[in-house]
Amino acid sequence: MKIGIVGGTGDIGEGMAMRLSQMHEVRLGSRDLSKAHEASQECRLQVEGRGLPCSLGGCSNQEAVNFGDVVVLAIPFRHLVGTVESLSGLEGKIVISPINPMEKREFFVYAPPEEGSAAVLVQRLLPGSRVVAAFNVIAANRWKAIDEELDYAVPICGDDAGAKQVVLELIRTVPGLKGYDAGPLATACMVECITPLLLNVARYNRMHDVGIQFR
Ligand SMILES: NC(=O)c1ccc[n+]([C@@H]2O[C@H](COP(=O)([O-])OP(=O)(O)OC[C@H]3O[C@@H](n4cnc5c(N)ncnc54)[C@H](OP(=O)(O)O)[C@@H]3O)[C@@H](O)[C@H]2O)c1
Repeated sequence: MKIGIVGGTGDIGEGMAMRLSQMHEVRLGSRDLSKAHEASQECRLQVEGRGLPCSLGGCSNQEAVNFGDVVVLAIPFRHLVGTVESLSGLEGKIVISPINPMEKREFFVYAPPEEGSAAVLVQRLLPGSRVVAAFNVIAANRWKAIDEELDYAVPICGDDAGAKQVVLELIRTVPGLKGYDAGPLATACMVECITPLLLNVARYNRMHDVGIQFR
């Protein structure tokens, strides 16, 4: 698959790029071209340094969109609207939202927009795109620990059955990950709010990078 990552220089973008570029063609996007090239070079060194294949390049966010059949919006929720409005050509593409709107108070709380979830907001902003909420619940550090298998469940939500099948297929290509259809996009709020729960569990139990499995 051809995958473009918007905000690819961040924690989740780099982590996903390091894993997915071993099986897919990946472009890591940024607002800053030199930052994109540096980040993709660093990720390539990590992957190729282990003798693993790597198809990864750095580019602008718009070029990442142009390149990808699947586009991942790996950006913080607060920059979602501005970033999406700055991009064009997302019509017809599968757009993955791993975005978890939340706030850190005394503990972490889910803080969705009035649409109900970040993923529903993405679909409202991009009515012609095939939006799927996915990869919300895997910590970036786990993506980046490429010597370890990612032994996690990935619930996905969306209204486009074909897009969900493609995302489930993408998940199947990553050793250890298991994708689950969690329902229509209206259920994305339930997936997005798992992350503040995981962060609170980690904090109050002195754990790191807590994830989920369905058994
Ligand atoms: N971190 C995790 O463990 C994790 C796990 C699951 C889901 N998520 C979700 O994944 C998304 C990305 O998380 P992250 O931790 O990777 O975020 P991050 O590292 O804080 O930021 C990601 C990228 O967003 C871009 N960015 C920053 N400010 C921006 C602005 N004003 N306008 C446009 N782009 C801007 C930056 O790229 P450039 O400066 O290169 O443009 C940055 O590298 C979040 O929505 C988060 O909820 C994160």
